[in-house]
Amino acid sequence: MTTTRTPAVGTPLSRLDGPAKVRGAVPYAYEHQVTNPAYLALVLSSVTRGTVTAVDDAAALAEAGVLAVLTHANAMRLADDDPELAVLQSADVRWRWQIVAAVVAESSEIARHAASLVRVSYDEAPHDTEMRTDGELEKPGDHVGLFGTAEGELNNGMPDADTEVGDVEAALARAAVTVDATYTTPHAFQHPMEPHAAIAQWTAPDQVTIHCGSQGVSDARRWIAGTLGLPPEHIRLISPHVGGGFGAKTFPQSYAVVTAMAAKTVGRPVKLALTRQQMFVLTGYRAPSSHRMRLGADRDGRLTAIAHDSVQQTARAKKYAEQVAVVSRTMWAAPHRRTTHRLVPLDVPVPTIMRGPGEAQGSFALESAMDEMAAELGLDPVEFRVRNEPDGHPESGRPFSSRRLIECLREGARIIGWDRRDPTPRSRREDGWLVGTGVAAGSYPSPQLPGNATRIQAAADGRHTVSIAAADIGTGTWTTLTQIAADALDVEIDAVTLRIGETGLPAATSAGFSSGTSSWGGSIDAAARELRRLVDEEHGGSIPSQGLDITVTAPVNPYASRYEMYSFGAQFAEVRIHEQTGTPRVSRLVGVFDVGRVINPKTARSQLTGGMIQGISMALHENGVMDPRHGQIVNHDFAGYHIAANADIGSVEAHWIGTPDSYTNSLGSKGLGEVCVIGTAAAVANAVHHATGVRVRDLPITLDKLLRR
Ligand code: MOS
Repeated sequence: MTTTRTPAVGTPLSRLDGPAKVRGAVPYAYEHQVTNPAYLALVLSSVTRGTVTAVDDAAALAEAGVLAVLTHANAMRLADDDPELAVLQSADVRWRWQIVAAVVAESSEIARHAASLVRVSYDEAPHDTEMRTDGELEKPGDHVGLFGTAEGELNNGMPDADTEVGDVEAALARAAVTVDATYTTPHAFQHPMEPHAAIAQWTAPDQVTIHCGSQGVSDARRWIAGTLGLPPEHIRLISPHVGGGFGAKTFPQSYAVVTAMAAKTVGRPVKLALTRQQMFVLTGYRAPSSHRMRLGADRDGRLTAIAHDSVQQTARAKKYAEQVAVVSRTMWAAPHRRTTHRLVPLDVPVPTIMRGPGEAQGSFALESAMDEMAAELGLDPVEFRVRNEPDGHPESGRPFSSRRLIECLREGARIIGWDRRDPTPRSRREDGWLVGTGVAAGSYPSPQLPGNATRIQAAADGRHTVSIAAADIGTGTWTTLTQIAADALDVEIDAVTLRIGETGLPAATSAGFSSGTSSWGGSIDAAARELRRLVDEEHGGSIPSQGLDITVTAPVNPYASRYEMYSFGAQFAEVRIHEQTGTPRVSRLVGVFDVGRVINPKTARSQLTGGMIQGISMALHENGVMDPRHGQIVNHDFAGYHIAANADIGSVEAHWIGTPDSYTNSLGSKGLGEVCVIGTAAAVANAVHHATGVRVRDLPITLDKLLRR
């Protein structure tokens, strides 16, 4: 087929759903219309560990408009005992602000007032919520499938808890220059702009429809079905538009489960909107972590050893392990290497993925240590990294499908004017501010996940309806998948009707793991190829009058076992530290990314700069403070937990290398949703060191840590 059509992929198309969104014409989870809804409010435990001995719901039930109070004694029985998802199934309290009762009423105001009248009594047990790095630490189980372990724990795709190549201790003992430092990251919270909300409506005694904001309706349906004890096809999840997720709308689904339980109890549709405060507990968080980094190098600046020993907090109730040290397996060459992960199980809520899970924390440690080593060696930190570029993956030895990290480093250095930099700390002052620049690099896996199917209905009039249960969490999926479909089908954009975001559509993997566009787009591409083959080989080059309707599951990527597939990036930060107050500001951040073919430069830039801003927020602001006496995050609101706002952000520039990858998927794209937050915090910390001579190894970098020294 020949065409004069301009390719849609690669053009900066504005969001197709943008006009409807700004008019308020598309519904977010809470805004779907249902008839005669009731409203749910949650009662959360006021102790951290113990047993509920009594629930006095008399005052709540006496309120006009209250329909029911759900407790562990009367709530419907669920099919599993997952400590996070199976709410109200036992009297056990495993963390503070666990759901211990729920009130259904005619309005949300009545429900919330009545919830405040429920009196819960407890037998309180001693709790332990204090993160530490010594004492009894647990090694996480090796993963099974994508997210699990044989022991039923959650494991975010980490192949092995520990790896060892060569003899790292001997190499460190022999090394001409060493760095030994420990870096820590605090509690952090995803807080998408759209709070978690659900509407549940039973359409038959064993069939329920749930509207919620979801990063992946196919995965979420499977988990909710397992808990409710229903076949997955009896659950309909609808989530066409999602106001952000950052990981918090993937695994944490207890709010949807309890909404479905309430709707079953009262025989009506039920709506639940979590409060911001509740989102500090019920929707997951990034757990505190600690990283002891030891690097050894020879005098020429070649790394001989990398040891990355990590400890992370997890929940005693349900262990979740994150791959916080794996970035040290991927980034730099060194003949001797060890990475380890250990867990501290505590009486805390269940952690979960947050944008760039694992690498975001680990890269702060690794790339700060790299900067410290460059200083020890008297080497430029860009040159030091270039000198330690590996030939293939440093642990597996397999080649990378593409790795243009040196180009990213060189291009970023050029843009920020790195050659004019005086490496001496405290060498630049402007108007009472100490000015410094710093660099860090990063990588994130870029998988094409198996299990994505696409349906294409082609009509004789040239219209194509393309259906896949993908998600648009604000990233631009509605637009980018339409572009991919248009090119794959060789039709104009407006000849494509895309359908995503609900379970009636062919199954898809979740928005996350930097896999969305590669996995869903690869599936659409495969289905379109099959459609065009059918048209050409069996229908003489045109669509039959009754149309064609095919569903194709994308084949497994044959290169997945032969190549290591990662996105890469280099970030350069310019910071200003006020000489009197110690206030740190990031005046400029430049990122250059190796993300393969870019489908849409406009939505890509938006996603990249968004991640970089989240990285600045991680570097300077976000800090959940646990009060171990009460087992609670004390700053559990937006007054106390600051996320970078406009006034905190200077110039943020995202660039990319744009060369398609030959192996990641048929589009040549790589993930870009997470690599943009990897290394940002280290780039800022390294710039702060350059500006002030002060090395801050515990995030966030606040003025007290600078003034102290
Ligand atoms: Mo991303 S934390 O995998 O949603």
